[in-house]
Amino acid sequence: MDPDKEVCVTIGSKEGIFNIAQSFVNDGETIIAPSPGYPVYSAAATIFNNAECVKVPLRPEKDWLLDPADCPEGARMLYANYPNNPTGATCDAKYLKKLQDWCVENGTIFCYDNAYSEMCFDGYMAPSALEAGKDCIEFGSFSKTFNMTGYRLGYAVGNRDLIAGLKKCKGQIDSGAPKFIQKAGVAALGLYKDGNLPDVVKANMDIYAERRKVLVDGLRSLGYKVNMPKATFYVWFDCGMPSMKFTEKMLDLGIVATPGVGFGKSAEGYVRMTVTQPKERIAEAIERMRKGSI
Ligand SMILES: Cc1ncc(COP(=O)(O)O)c(C=O)c1O
Repeated sequence: MDPDKEVCVTIGSKEGIFNIAQSFVNDGETIIAPSPGYPVYSAAATIFNNAECVKVPLRPEKDWLLDPADCPEGARMLYANYPNNPTGATCDAKYLKKLQDWCVENGTIFCYDNAYSEMCFDGYMAPSALEAGKDCIEFGSFSKTFNMTGYRLGYAVGNRDLIAGLKKCKGQIDSGAPKFIQKAGVAALGLYKDGNLPDVVKANMDIYAERRKVLVDGLRSLGYKVNMPKATFYVWFDCGMPSMKFTEKMLDLGIVATPGVGFGKSAEGYVRMTVTQPKERIAEAIERMRKGSI
C-alpha cells in the first residue's frame, strides 16, 4: 500500500464520510444509504449536493445486512457499515466482496464505514472491504478503538482516485488533521505488535464484554429477545412498542436509550442501548426497568 496515494488522514471518520460525498456526488445524482444507519450517510450528499438519497431498509430477517438486490441501479455512491451502528450486526469478507462486486458492476462508488473494526468480541474479527479489492474507499476511526473521540482523528484507505478526490476537497477546507494529533495517532497505532490488538484495547474490550453480558442477560430476564452482539458497544432489540414510546418510558425511569426510528423508519419498534456505562449502572438500569414493569 502506498500511504501517499492510498491513505488520507481525516478529522474523525465522520468528516471523511461527509467529504467523500462532497468530492464525488453531483446535483441530481442518487446515493444509497442503509436504513437504519448512521445519519451522515443520508445527509451528506443531500444537504449540499442536491442529490437524492434512497434509503434501503435493513431487516432482521436478513440479519440487518444491506442486500444489493434491494438497491437501485445507477446510483453514484453506496454507504455500508459493519460492524453496524445501531444494530450491532456484523458481516464476513464474502459479503463485502458481494457488495463491492455489485458496486463495480453498477458503476457505484462503494464507501465502507469500518469505524468499529476493532470493537469485536468472542474472537470475531471484522473484515475490511479492501480484502475484496481496492474498488472502494474504507473509513476507520481512532474514536472507538482508542477512546480518542475528542481528538477527531480517522482515516480513509483504498482506491487511489477516490483518495485523490477526497484530498482535493479537504485541501480547500481543512488542510488536514493537526500534526500533534496525528502524532498521538501514530503512538496509538504503534501499540499494535505483529498485527495483534494492543493490550490496552483488549482490556477495554474485556470490560465492554462484561457489561454486554450484564445488559443482554438482564434484558433477557425481563423477557426481551436480544442477540448477544459480536461487535460494537450497542445492544439492539425489539422493544414491542413504538420506539419513541418505549424510550420516553425509559426516560421516566432515568434511563437513556435511543429509539430505533431515529435511525430510520424501518427500525421502528427497535431500541439501541449501549455498554458505555459501568456494569453496576447497567445492572441498576435493569432493576429500574423491572420495578417500572417495562
Ligand atoms: C457508524 C459510525 N461511523 C462513523 C462514526 C464517526 O466516528 P468519528 O468521526 O468519531 O471517527 C460513528 C460515530 O458514532 C459511527 O457510529
